Amino acid sequence: MESIYQPVADLILRRQPCVALTGAGISAESGIPTFRSKGGLWEKFDPTVYASIEAFRGDPSKYWSIRGEFIRNYDAYQPNPGHRALAELESMGLLRHVITQNIDGLHRKAGSRSVTEIHGSLREIFCIQCGKEYRAPNIPEGTPPRCECEGVLKPNTVLFGESLPIQALETAWREAGGCRVMLVIGTSAVVQPAASLPFIAKEHGAALVEVNLDKAFSNADYFLEGKAGTVLPELVSEMRKQS
Ligand code: OAD
Repeated sequence: MESIYQPVADLILRRQPCVALTGAGISAESGIPTFRSKGGLWEKFDPTVYASIEAFRGDPSKYWSIRGEFIRNYDAYQPNPGHRALAELESMGLLRHVITQNIDGLHRKAGSRSVTEIHGSLREIFCIQCGKEYRAPNIPEGTPPRCECEGVLKPNTVLFGESLPIQALETAWREAGGCRVMLVIGTSAVVQPAASLPFIAKEHGAALVEVNLDKAFSNADYFLEGKAGTVLPELVSEMRKQS
């Protein structure tokens, strides 16, 4: 009997390059909550109050007060089989790039080398006054944590109302426009400009493959329903059989 993964495995083997766009869903199985699934972070906290640059400028302690709800200790989280499957695809020469909205660094930890973190990363925290950088596990105590110079510290991530780092955005546009298959994994695809990347890929002739618990894209060519940590390793194993 033909596996449900076979047509997608075929597609990726035949049509290169392939690029992945990932969202919070791929890290859910690493124990990091998503934003908009049931019980997600934005169900409990209003992002305009807790995660916008305007709110951060007014009162940074709000942002820092929910830090523990999301990623308490950057170094404590480990990649899951979904992240590892993408790293494996890259090493097989079948995945050119990962564009991620996630700030948890788990793609790199899993071994992916070609990664663009379009919403930045929690790896570095910097002082908004003097620019001094801290590593994530060494954030000074206190809410909001402060630099030696007393300036407020902010992670190197994009808050609502902030522009994306231009270089990352340009890479994302180039990769989306140049791929022939895009794997869209674990994103509700409502936050721009990330949400437009699959449309850019499609406009340039790429096939879209969505991996999600619930379909977020009506224009996907293939929908693989399920957890990324199950679906992606199955897909890689199908490709290993065929290559
Ligand atoms: P969301 O929380 O909006 O969406 C998570 C998606 O993952 C949903 O479509 C779920 O169905 C799916 N999902 C959940 N568990 C899954 C699993 N195990 N396997 C596969 N899919 C699963 O997260 P994002 O789309 O990443 O930005 O959110 C985009 C941006 O909104 C984030 O980067 C963040 C947030 O506000 C900023 O903070 C700027």
